[in-house]
Amino acid sequence: MAILVTGGAGYTGSHTCVELLAAGYEIIVLDNFSNSKPESLNRVKELTEKDFPYYKVDLLDRRSLRDVFSNHPIEAVIHLAGLKAVGESTSLPLHYYHNNITGTLILCDVMKEYGVKNMVFSSSATVYGMPERVPISEDFPLSATNPYGRTKLMIEEILCDLFVADSSWSISLLRYFNPIGAHESGRIGEDPSGIPSNLMPFITQVAVGKLNELLVFGNDYPTVDGSGVRDYIHVVDLAQGHVKALERVMSSKGVDAFNLGTGTGYSVLQMIAAFEKAAAVKIPYKIVARRPGDVAICYADPSKAKKELDWMAVRGIEEMCRDSWSWQKKNPDGYDTKVISK
Ligand code: UD1
Repeated sequence: MAILVTGGAGYTGSHTCVELLAAGYEIIVLDNFSNSKPESLNRVKELTEKDFPYYKVDLLDRRSLRDVFSNHPIEAVIHLAGLKAVGESTSLPLHYYHNNITGTLILCDVMKEYGVKNMVFSSSATVYGMPERVPISEDFPLSATNPYGRTKLMIEEILCDLFVADSSWSISLLRYFNPIGAHESGRIGEDPSGIPSNLMPFITQVAVGKLNELLVFGNDYPTVDGSGVRDYIHVVDLAQGHVKALERVMSSKGVDAFNLGTGTGYSVLQMIAAFEKAAAVKIPYKIVARRPGDVAICYADPSKAKKELDWMAVRGIEEMCRDSWSWQKKNPDGYDTKVISK
């Protein structure tokens, strides 16, 4: 029996594949490669010295999806496939709703058809909207401020309805905080297309000389130094959280949400300082206006995941910065990099 990983070639997906293989699971990967490259999966194979099948399949293509379920005995699905750019979702809402929501509906339908009812879903802290307090626990009110966030929230609701209708489903909703870092080998990491919209890939691209300076969005928030505070989590810790959630869905029934964060917040200026120290590179930056839609402070209460999944993040900010830098330095053009410097 194997674990199907949708979106397995992406940033979180590729790291999750490594951890699944290391834990002894057989995996099958699906990806439409719209925002990822097959090279990431070749590197997962190289790192783990394990082989697995992967298919270029879009979840909207029901027939190809059914073929995969017909050809492989699948025990559970880790569902990470989805579009995730906030700005793009605002200009292309229908594309986002169709891709993320219809894709998930088709996936659930096919899973049901083949009697596969265990799922780990890649959600996001974005489902807390503009939280009124921190730390954020799973029982906080949910809302969304953009189409991307609404797709995550709607999918959570759809999966809850699925369980209400059929209690033989077992589903974990993993609410990620801010994943950064990379595998310590520097062979896999985040490879955003175009100019990064998230903080860490922007910083590493400034560090490697691809971008001139970082724009810090606001220094007038009610935070330690005025810049926005987030709960940055090492992507390998996040990936290990998926393995723990998988163990849970395969051994119990129900639908449950878990925050995957560290419980500690760092400001943008603290992140710049931590990165400069870890990489020994200066990051030129300029303070500009707040980015619309940003919250001042967002960090997790991760105690539920600790208690119920026996998982907690163990990698600190130095490791996160070091590994983000190592990946960027060795792969200045991401997976398109031709010659890898050691
Ligand atoms: C963003 C999304 C969130 C999504 C997550 C996925 C927004 C408003 N939120 O979270 O919905 O789930 O990415 O990874 O886009 N910053 C700068 N300069 C930059 C980039 C960011 O100062 O060039 C600041 C931001 O203002 C924020 C912090 O860095 O305070 C982190 O930003 P980012 O990495 O984009 O993550 P989020 O906004 O938390």
